Amino acid sequence: SPSDPDLVERARAAKEKLGDKVFVLGHHYQRDEVIQFADVTGDSFKLARDAAARPQAEYIVFCGVHFMAESADILTGDDQKVVLPDLAAGCSMADMATAEQVAECWDVLTEAGIADQVVPVSYMNSSADIKAFTGKHGGTICTSSNAKRALDWAFEQGEKVLFLPDQHLGRNTAVRDMGMSLEDCVVYNPHKPNGGLTADELRAAKMILWRGHCSVHGRFSLDSVNDVRERIPGVNVLVHPECRHEVVAAADHVGSTEYIIRTLEAAPAGSKWAIGTELNLVRRLANRFASEGKEIVFLDKTVCFCSTMNRIDLPHLVWALESLAEGNLVNRIEVDRETEAFAKLALERMLALP
Ligand code: 13P
Ligand code: SF4
Repeated sequence: SPSDPDLVERARAAKEKLGDKVFVLGHHYQRDEVIQFADVTGDSFKLARDAAARPQAEYIVFCGVHFMAESADILTGDDQKVVLPDLAAGCSMADMATAEQVAECWDVLTEAGIADQVVPVSYMNSSADIKAFTGKHGGTICTSSNAKRALDWAFEQGEKVLFLPDQHLGRNTAVRDMGMSLEDCVVYNPHKPNGGLTADELRAAKMILWRGHCSVHGRFSLDSVNDVRERIPGVNVLVHPECRHEVVAAADHVGSTEYIIRTLEAAPAGSKWAIGTELNLVRRLANRFASEGKEIVFLDKTVCFCSTMNRIDLPHLVWALESLAEGNLVNRIEVDRETEAFAKLALERMLALP
């Protein structure tokens, strides 16, 4: 939908007043009306690096979700303030692993006698507490762009990986990219005693997957893939690795949002694509590439936007920018020092991956 011209003008004016003091980051899943004001756009990996590379900006306005703003705060200097235009923009996947649950899981692994062999690898889509746990126990963070490199690194440090919180990214990377079998993976369910696993099952596993998932990507199904292949003969199916294993196994290409964009940029005119990722991005790509004769459709019309990503809309962005321009620091995301120190360790291990 076209943005309200009055709000567009107000956002522009507030941004101009702030000048170099503000830097606006926009995740690929953000609305068009917000993306138009982003100084950079990217996936969570690129944005984490971009935030750290802007020491002169006093305010980092993060158009994305809470865990991304936390990561930006961890990676930026103490005098830089990270602002999330709507504090209700969380992530249901990140919420599926709490600090208490993960501490309890570590106790279970200790009881089974395997904790010293386990290296935690946590997806960027997790709270700062989970990142700190990861850093404290010798692990690293990963994103969908570097999950294989993170797992390669982790298996050089230990024999087993505890992968948090997205079971699908963990399983897909292990099976698709690392040659493991489905039997090498077990799922730890935080809502069951001992994660629903016996000590023998834990000892036999290579990948201990946390039972979390993305409420958007988890909704694509094998039927979505089969239906689109029937509807559009010759279609290339391209999905994000947060999709379920059977969806990824049936797809032609799998990768992070940056990978999806690069693949479509390189695609020949006349090619047809069905994309399994967030709808704001798919629509933007469909519009962008239509003039080049590339046909791009959404993998399953019954799946909708990420509702928390969509909470950042133009009215919230205008409010945040105008507040900052008037000297009111609103919606600051600030991770406490101890959490930050350990979380930073884990994030820096990721940034140092080959
Ligand atoms: P990437 O930005 O790493 O592709 O992750 C997708 C996602 O779900 C972010 O919330
Ligand atoms: Fe979280 Fe999924 Fe939304 Fe990304 S798309 S913010 S993983 S719920």
